[in-house]
Amino acid sequence: MTILNNDADVRRIREAGAIVRELLNILGEKAKAGVSTAALDAFSEDFILRNGGEPAFKGYKGYPSTICASVNEVVVHGIPSEDKVLEDGDIISVDVGVKKNGYYADAARTFPVGNISDEAQRLVRVTEECLREAVNEAVAGNRLYDVSNAVQKIAEREGFEEVRAFVGHGIGVRLHEPPEVPNWGQKGKGQVLEEGLLLAIEPMINQGKREVEILEDGWTAVTADRKLSAHFENTVMVGINKTEILT
Ligand code: MF3
Ligand code: CO
Repeated sequence: MTILNNDADVRRIREAGAIVRELLNILGEKAKAGVSTAALDAFSEDFILRNGGEPAFKGYKGYPSTICASVNEVVVHGIPSEDKVLEDGDIISVDVGVKKNGYYADAARTFPVGNISDEAQRLVRVTEECLREAVNEAVAGNRLYDVSNAVQKIAEREGFEEVRAFVGHGIGVRLHEPPEVPNWGQKGKGQVLEEGLLLAIEPMINQGKREVEILEDGWTAVTADRKLSAHFENTVMVGINKTEILT
């Protein structure tokens, strides 16, 4: 677990977070029909290096790329490819991690490509709401599964299912640190959240059933029923009354 307790370290991770946030904002503009996910990846690697960061995913457990580009039924860990060209009506989740000043920041957004269906729009909107409400629960004195429960409650209310095969995580001087941050859980349970704790909160919400399958490349996670999935993630620092979103 990384718990920051001084301004110098907070400034360090803010710089990592700023690169992730700015990059994702640009990628949202670039995610247009006709663009390959490999092109988004190449741009991302260059952008991170130009800003004095290092891509955090490339080489992590053998992952080959800078971003994860997960289109439609791909839940997470889609590997960028020249052959994967975005089409009107797709949704694409882009997940990116950056190391700078010894600190990691990790975030994801799901973008519409052109005109998407009403149901796809609802899935994306609800998944973003899951992240927002989860972050609102991540304040000092609350418990870890208050965060988890916020995601589960909204997903259930909307008739979607939260993915349980992957979880959010602590982050800081490594990409993945304790604690695990599941997207389901009981309010009032789990560890008490401390001021300065760094968490990557990342709801993955399926239009259909929660089950996933991993494709033969060993990475690409798809919905078992091949319905849509959306993913939003932010790296945050737990605060007393309000939590700082670093990405
Ligand atoms: N945001 C994802 C996670 O926290 C990204 C990991 S992809 C990997 O698990 F390539 F780095 F494994
Ligand atoms: Co993450």
